[in-house]
Amino acid sequence: MRSKNISEATRYIRTLFAPEDAVLTQINERIASEDQPIHIGAEEGKILHVLMRMARVRTAVEIGTLGGYSTVWMARAMPENGMLYTIEKDPVRAKKAQENIDQSDVKGRIQILQGDALDVLSTLSDKAPFDMVFIDADKGNYVRYLDWAEEHVASGGLIVGDNTFLFGSVYRDGPLENVSKTSHNVMQEFNRRLAAPEKYDSIILPTEEGMTVALKR
Ligand code: DHB
Ligand code: MG
Repeated sequence: MRSKNISEATRYIRTLFAPEDAVLTQINERIASEDQPIHIGAEEGKILHVLMRMARVRTAVEIGTLGGYSTVWMARAMPENGMLYTIEKDPVRAKKAQENIDQSDVKGRIQILQGDALDVLSTLSDKAPFDMVFIDADKGNYVRYLDWAEEHVASGGLIVGDNTFLFGSVYRDGPLENVSKTSHNVMQEFNRRLAAPEKYDSIILPTEEGMTVALKR
């Protein structure tokens, strides 16, 4: 789980490399005031930004919009004619995310697709290949999302997954009490598959939650 208290190192990184402007601050404040689930931190937003610039990402898919905070970070790393499709299952969250994104400078590069991710992904297949897929949704489906991503990400493109430490569980033999056995096994398989050096240049970035980053060969 993400803690509200961030380390001195993280605070330093956020202040120097990932300051939030009014748009991001507002999204954050709204999420906090409505007790919505915590999304990524600013330093993780900036990590996504830097990775996307390095891989020259122009088209991307985000699975799990939540409040649209990561969405804005990602869209800002894309060129003006880029497109980020972001999938949100919960219609109330999707509506709030749309309101948040509408306040941003990058709303023209973002399309929210409301629905079950596996259904929505199948409708996106004809727009492939994508330069990036960012997976940050229900943990028990990560391998299914990876199946789609492996097939629809371009060579030289990125597959990124958030929370890939699975709240401290993934490196244990069995699940911690806070996660299901299914999610535990799924996340172990997710990381194992992305670790394959013949397919990817890849690593887990040791963020608080673990962020698996794989550049498709
Ligand atoms: C939590 C954090 C996440 O980034 C996520 O995708 C799901 C849950 C958490 O801290 O509980
Ligand atoms: Mg997450």
